[in-house]
Amino acid sequence: MRHFLTLLDLSPEELNWLIQRAIELKQLHKRGEVYEPLKNRVLGMVFEKSSTRTRVSFEAGMAQLGGHAIFLSPRDTQLGRGEPVEDSARVLSRMLDVVMIRTFDHEMIETFAAYSQVPVINALTDDFHPCQLLADMQTFAEHRGSIQGKTVAWIGDGNNMCHSYINAARQFDFHLNIAAPEGFDPAQFLLDENKDRVTLMRDPKEAVAGAHLVTTDVWASMGQEEEQEERARKFRDFQVSREMLDLAAEDVIFMHCLPAHRGEEISEDLLDDPRSVVWDEAENRLHAQKALLEFLLCQED
Ligand code: CP
Ligand code: NVA
Repeated sequence: MRHFLTLLDLSPEELNWLIQRAIELKQLHKRGEVYEPLKNRVLGMVFEKSSTRTRVSFEAGMAQLGGHAIFLSPRDTQLGRGEPVEDSARVLSRMLDVVMIRTFDHEMIETFAAYSQVPVINALTDDFHPCQLLADMQTFAEHRGSIQGKTVAWIGDGNNMCHSYINAARQFDFHLNIAAPEGFDPAQFLLDENKDRVTLMRDPKEAVAGAHLVTTDVWASMGQEEEQEERARKFRDFQVSREMLDLAAEDVIFMHCLPAHRGEEISEDLLDDPRSVVWDEAENRLHAQKALLEFLLCQED
């Protein structure tokens, strides 16, 4: 039994296989072929934070694979009324085949996984968002081929997405330039463990120079709403614009996990630029997570 709490839970070989499988499953789906290896299998989806893409991609993905998904909100489950995570994990995993969790503390999903009899998927914590990276790596592969040896620029907050980009740099073997304002660096242990692949900078222009992929995220993540104004001031010089992309490699592409705030972390017109691939990236959440579900649930097949 395997969990997917961070990108490090799969080997580089498994991750590369998964990306190729996601591309295949996408083609199969586009051809209208029915493929239902998860018939009678049920995914539980625990959401303690909002979601559009993650919820819809997991739910649609399970339906397309022949299975079923149950949306579990803390508002109407006992988890939200204080039932211990350990007990919830033991109970839910006796009824479900796989559980997906979006929550605040990363420790919560580690605890859940420790008490679960079925695979647990991290659908975003304060620390990591590995499912998004599967979609991002698939999107890069589709548009530009292998990301190995390329340069990626992360502009903005050293947040959960940035942390998953650091893990991706290690697993997919690319170089990551991070430009974050002082005080918003990614976790020091991740920088220390990945010194050979990650360079921390203060100047976004320097970070994007020669980059093959430029990416960013909101300045205030879910749970940081009250810091929004202060962050907007401190991140002012970190907006990604068309002019900034002009400093990158000739064939650069731009990604954003979405939702995006036009006029803040990206210029008003950036998503309309031909170098932006954000809609493909969003769609690929569906295909990449179908590949993940198949990997976690059909390993013996
Ligand atoms: N990118 C992403 O995870 O989007 P949602 O918050 O809409 O799920
Ligand atoms: N960093 C963002 C990502 C949203 C998909 C957040 O955690 O809110």
